[in-house]
Amino acid sequence: MQIVDIDFCVPEDLKSLVAIEEACFNDPWSELLIEYDLNNPGNAIYMKAIMKRTIVGYGVLGLLDETSHLMNLAVMPEFRRHGAALQLMAAFGELSRSNGCKRMRLEVRSSNITARRFYASMGFVYSSRLKSYYSDGEDALLLVSRLPIKIK
Ligand SMILES: CC(C)(COP(=O)(O)OP(=O)(O)OC[C@H]1O[C@@H](n2cnc3c(N)ncnc32)[C@H](O)[C@@H]1OP(=O)(O)O)[C@@H](O)C(=O)NCCC(=O)NCCS
Repeated sequence: MQIVDIDFCVPEDLKSLVAIEEACFNDPWSELLIEYDLNNPGNAIYMKAIMKRTIVGYGVLGLLDETSHLMNLAVMPEFRRHGAALQLMAAFGELSRSNGCKRMRLEVRSSNITARRFYASMGFVYSSRLKSYYSDGEDALLLVSRLPIKIK
């Protein structure tokens, strides 16, 4: 078991987050978008996972009325299966609860079996299918969980 620290992102993390995006997604978020968000906190909450002083993953959460929205989550391939994503989800779950949210929701590619297993392990369940949600035409599955989410 490796130690994972979780903290809020700062503008200086930009390059690390862009590297994670590019390593993890075929359609990564642009540097411009991430830079904007990091410099305009409030819009979306960015948190990072750190192992051995390296940013190995990050996630983005939006706080809506009673439902928080997980907008992004990614961990560098070589640092997976060490609990980094789980720790990010624990932090987002607490943040959601302390802001009065009762549920968390997220979209996941229907073909992304790894992520679907990951979210299922925390109690997320299928809510609906969003047709052609992604720019390449793939459907998204909308998943939801009551808070607190299950962190083993
Ligand atoms: C999904 C993702 C964020 C998981 O990150 P991670 O740090 O490896 O996840 P964790 O180590 O916290 O895993 C927690 C649990 O989730 C489940 N899980 C995670 N990866 C899994 C896999 N490849 N297969 C089956 N179960 C998996 C397991 O139950 C795991 O616990 P265990 O390792 O004790 O068995 C990571 O695989 C990733 O970045 N994927 C690419 C980007 C992506 O798809 N993001 C989600 C977009 S919606």
